[in-house]
Parts: sequence; C-alpha cells; structure tokens
Amino acid sequence: MEKIQLPINEYENEILKAVTHNSIVVIIGETGSGKTTQLSQIMHRHGFTKSGRVGITQPRRVAAVSVSRRVASEMGVRIGEEVGYSIRFEDRTSDRTCIKYLTDGCLLRECLSDPELRQYAVIILDEAHERSLNTDILLGLMKKLVRRRSQDLKVIITSATLDGDKFSSFFFKCPVLNIPGKLFPVEILYSMERPASYRESALQTAIDLHTQQPPGDILLFMTGQDDIDKTVSKLEERIRSLDEGSCMDAIILPLHGSLPPEMQVRVFMQVPPNCRRIIVATNIAETSLTVDGVVYVIDPGFVKQRQYNPGTGMYSLDVVQISRVQADQRAGRAGRTRPGKCYRLYPFSVYEHELLEATIPEIQRSSLASAVLHLKSLDLPDIDVLKFDFLDQPSRESLEDALKQLYLIDAIDDDGLITKIGRQMAELPLEPSLARALIAANDLECLSQCLTVAAMLSCENVFTPTSSKGASKKRERVDLNLPDGSGMGDHIQLLEIYEEWHQNHYDVEWCKNHGLQVRSMMFAKDVRQQLSSLMYKITKESLDVMTKESFREKRIMIRKLRKALCVGFANRLAQRMERHNGYRTLCYKAQLVQVHPTACPLEVDDDGLYPEYVLYNELLVTSRPYIRNLCSVEASWVKPIWAKLQHFDIGKLSGRALSTEELNIPTQEVTNCSATVTPKLSENRENIIQSARERFLARKQLKVKK
Ligand code: CDP
Ligand code: MG
Repeated sequence: MEKIQLPINEYENEILKAVTHNSIVVIIGETGSGKTTQLSQIMHRHGFTKSGRVGITQPRRVAAVSVSRRVASEMGVRIGEEVGYSIRFEDRTSDRTCIKYLTDGCLLRECLSDPELRQYAVIILDEAHERSLNTDILLGLMKKLVRRRSQDLKVIITSATLDGDKFSSFFFKCPVLNIPGKLFPVEILYSMERPASYRESALQTAIDLHTQQPPGDILLFMTGQDDIDKTVSKLEERIRSLDEGSCMDAIILPLHGSLPPEMQVRVFMQVPPNCRRIIVATNIAETSLTVDGVVYVIDPGFVKQRQYNPGTGMYSLDVVQISRVQADQRAGRAGRTRPGKCYRLYPFSVYEHELLEATIPEIQRSSLASAVLHLKSLDLPDIDVLKFDFLDQPSRESLEDALKQLYLIDAIDDDGLITKIGRQMAELPLEPSLARALIAANDLECLSQCLTVAAMLSCENVFTPTSSKGASKKRERVDLNLPDGSGMGDHIQLLEIYEEWHQNHYDVEWCKNHGLQVRSMMFAKDVRQQLSSLMYKITKESLDVMTKESFREKRIMIRKLRKALCVGFANRLAQRMERHNGYRTLCYKAQLVQVHPTACPLEVDDDGLYPEYVLYNELLVTSRPYIRNLCSVEASWVKPIWAKLQHFDIGKLSGRALSTEELNIPTQEVTNCSATVTPKLSENRENIIQSARERFLARKQLKVKK
C-alpha cells in the first residue's frame, strides 16, 4: 500500500522528542490526522517495540478491527502477525505481534493477569475524548502505573478535541502536543426550525443534495442500527424512483457498530466514477472512523445514549441531543479533502443555547458495577473506590449503588473485599449479574442451560422485527410456533428456542421460518461456545447443550436455572402489585413499571395469580418504564436477598475500613476468617480453580453417597 502523508507524520520528530523525555504525553490532533494509524507505527519504527509491544486502545470494537487491518496493510503484513488486534471473544495476535490494537475493556481485563501490563513498552489510550467508561478507569490506572514503571513504560493519550489541558493537569502537568489539522473551510447551514421528523428531514436533505449539488460524498448521521436500516432502504427507494440520467449514480452505505466485517470494508472501498456515496452512520463516523471523500454532512443533532439513573436503578436507551463538541466534529468531517458543507437540521439558537458544551462522560451515566468490580479485583494496594482517581469523579450515589449491587450478588464481602465469587466474576467478560448467575448455575448444576441463556441475552435481539404495522408493537412469538418459555418467562423461552434450534442441527432455514435473526442466532452460538470454554477452566466439565427429555426433568432443571438467575439478578427483582392490576403492572422501588409488550406470557397459579416476584434483565424507560426480559422467581429465594440489604456499611464496602490497625491483625485470626483474606492474584487464580474443583468433587461425592 502506498505511503500517504498525514499531518501527524510531519511532527514525527517532535513526537519522538516528547515521548523520549516524558513518561506521559498528550497528543491532540484533528480527526483523520493519523493518530490511530500512524502513532503506533512511529513508535515501532523508532525502536520502542524492542522491549515490548505498543498497545493502542479503542473504545469501539469495530474501530479496533478495522484500524488494525489498515495498519497491517500499510506495513504489508498479515493481520495477527506483526500487527494484531484483540477484542472481546476474539484474539488475533501472536508471539510476533508488536503492534496490538485492543478495546479498552480488553486492556482492563489484561490488568487482571498482569497488573503491571509487562507485555507493553508503550500504551496509547486512543480516542480519550470519547471518555468511555473503560478508558476513564485506564486513565486512573495509568497514573499509578507510570509511577511504578517510570523507567520502561511510555503512555500516550490522544484526543481529537481540545481537552489537552484537562488531561495534562490530571497527569502531573505532562506536555501536550497539538497537531494542526488541515481542514478546509466548512460552510454551516442551519434549519429555520426543528423538523417534525429528523429522519424524514434528513432523507429529504440527502435527496436534495444528491440531485442538486456537485459531486462529493454525503455523510448522514443517524442514531442507531434501526433508523440507519430504515433510512438506507428509503433512500434506495427514492433514488431508484429518480429519472434515469437526471443525476449521477449513488451507492448507499450503512455504517454502525454491529455491521458484519465484510460490510464495514465496503465503506473504505473505491467507488466507480460518476457515482456518489451516501454513508448513513452512527456517531462512529464522528471521530473513530474516517471515511475519505465526504463533502456534505447532514447532522440531525441526535445521538443514542445509554444512561443510568442511580436513584431508580433504571437504564434507558435514549435518543438525546448531541453536544456542541460533537456537532463541530461532525461538521469537520465535510472539510477533509476540499471545502464542504454541513447541514444542521436545527436552528442556530439550538446549537448556541440548547446543546451541552461537551458530552457527559460515560462514567457519569453508567452503572459502575463492572467498573468497580474490576477495580476491586486489580489487587492494587489501598483502593478506596469512593476515592479512586477518576478524571471526572462519578457521583457518590452511583458508586454506592455499584458497591451495593456487588455486595448483594456476593462479589464483595461486608468489608468491601473481593470474594472468590467476585474474582471468578471478574474473569468473565460479562456484566456482573450474568457472571454471577453462571457461577450460581455451576453450583446448582444447570450451567449448560445458563450458558445458553447468557449467550442468547448477549445478542441485542434474536427476533426479527416484524414490519407490518399492526404487529410491530407486539411480536407474534406464539404464531411463529416458537416455544413459550413454559410459562416461566423470557429467559426460559430463549433457552427453549436455542435448544430447539440445536435439535434442528442449527439449521438456518429453521431460524428464518421461526422469525429469528440468523445472524443473532449464529452470534449466540459463537458466544455460547466461547463462554463454555471459559467456564470449562473452572468446571472441567463438558458444557454441550443438554436437553431434558422428560417433562419432570425439564421442570426441575428450569427451577434450578431460575434460582441461579435470581442469585445473579438480585438487584433486579420486581414484586407484583395488586391482583386486579394483573401481572403487567409491578411495583419496583415504589415506582410502577410495566412489563414490556414483547414479554412472553407467564403462568398463573391456582388462584389465577401471576408470580409474586420476577427478575428482569433490563429496565427501560421509553414512553413509560418497562421491564424487559423477565423470568418468574420464588418468594423464598428473594427473602434472603432482601434481608442482606438491611445491614451493610457503605464505607467498608468501598474499602475505607482497611486502616493500618486492621491490617495488623495477627495472621492466624485473618486466616480463620477467610472472607477478609485477599491473597495475591497469581496464587489466587490457582486457588479459585482448585477450590472450584474441590467443591465440584465434594458435590459429586455427596451425590454418590446419597
Ligand atoms: O486517528 P485519526 O482520526 O487521527 O486518524 P486515522 O484514523 O489514523 O486516519 C488517518 C487516515 O487513514 C484517514 O485519512 C483515514 O481515511 C485513513 N484510514 C482508512 O482509509 N481506512 C481505515 N480503516 C482507517 C483509516
Ligand atoms: Mg483515531
């Protein structure tokens, strides 16, 4: 591949000088200036990889994969050799790999087995402006790590926005290099008012541009896969209906995080002459992926954001207004190769007065349970979670919420120390609840089934959304001849669907005939495979799909599975309200929530009552609060969980209690009280496996005796 000259290459010497003389350097550069693809190569060319790898983190999986492929091809090597990537469930690196792209979550997981990250000589925290939760934790960890490895580790923080001073003051006033971009002027045009439908307005703008404006690609920002798919098909339809020869050809390309790899590649391919590309993308095209050739940007001003409300314990996936920083980034995409135009589908007054200055960092909109669990499991000395060095401190409320959840699901003990269970959970690339459910399932001997449920839950949606209007709200699962969850809820239905698919030899046609998305089902199968091999390390048991034939056996197994799920989802239990309300209205923390219309029907008891308690996977606030993916649980399982909530000391959970005095407790006492001992990680891993094995054998013995 020919070597292209990017702005960053002109500053190679300055970068080298700064990195040589400083442990931490912040590099600010316009999107497309070459930070992601070039910095790693610069470090490699100048010998930094002699003593270790260059690791470059990406907040998005798609970016890690696509960018590493690009770098491999620039260097003329095969992916997985000198240049590789590592994302959740996929590691494409080898002994020869010296440039490794990985998601920030992956690097965090690597801290577990190697807290000093010894394989790396250089760590580049890329796209720091995105402020993903994981990157934020890594920032805090890097601050500690550079002190410990001051002689042999270089850390580079890159950002596409002008937040250099903030990073610099966080990192002991480290130097900030500004790489001037080569942006052409972008003319910004505003709508007179907000359109009734941003989708319709974006569509019309795209058609107008295509029919009236000179050549140049169009980049249209949408909020998610759903509206991208709809917009793409509508655009195709409208363009087909244009008069032959009235304007140039057009190729319409979707671009989002769950696009299959072969579709992602299409966006970077050359197009035939006299053909305009219209790229319909999520905010992935804002900074993480640069598509060259864009001259027109259409910005409806929205983004889909997941946010968490610690007060109610609710998550919602909302379409919200972008920030001014995002709006400017979007506009910038139009001026990369020549002067461009950006059409903002909102008035200037909105830009000026309504948009937030910058996006709220993910850490401030998240449940911190996984983050805190990671922190707890890193074995870093004296970590008091409520005092961890975050670039932006999360609210105390949300940190406390996370600690409570971890305590409820036995990941940390009364003293805030990670438990054996917590360690096992941290090893699993799953949210804490699911990880906990799997561990409980292992103890209850229904792990195989629980793995299937976890795998199915890891796909966004296995059901093909029905397009006909009447059916769109409520999916006609029953009509499709799908299993009904045996009256126990969605988790069980997902299990039954998978098992039936298994019995049909994973037939693609079977999925289609039953209204299931083939890609999602295949993904579930893949994830299940990988989860089993992860769990195999603990169980040493084969975890193939095992269907229970007899009704009685099946019933017993389902009950165990529900119990295991209940342990994992201890912080997501809802209680039935009143009889006359039926089961669709439940009480949760004194608020009313509704069962999502897509939920599969639950069994009623002899008195016609729905289960007193259900667990749910997701609490979603759309027009009203809904719980989605639910499963009935028994009251006797819930009682001990709620009892646990009655007494705990949040300060202790946070780690505060480990004062020097307490650490000086004579060894004997400590060993007697196993819950307060946190052995060193390396020994501990062995211990976990060993003790799991022992527990397993003990259970087997017990059964034999019975
Ligand atoms: O990270 P930053 O935004 O500074 O730039 P980059 O991602 O390193 O991109 C530098 C150049 O490589 C841009 O012109 C991209 O269009 C190009 N690139 C590409 O063509 N294909 C990729 N998969 C990644 C980057
Ligand atoms: Mg980049």
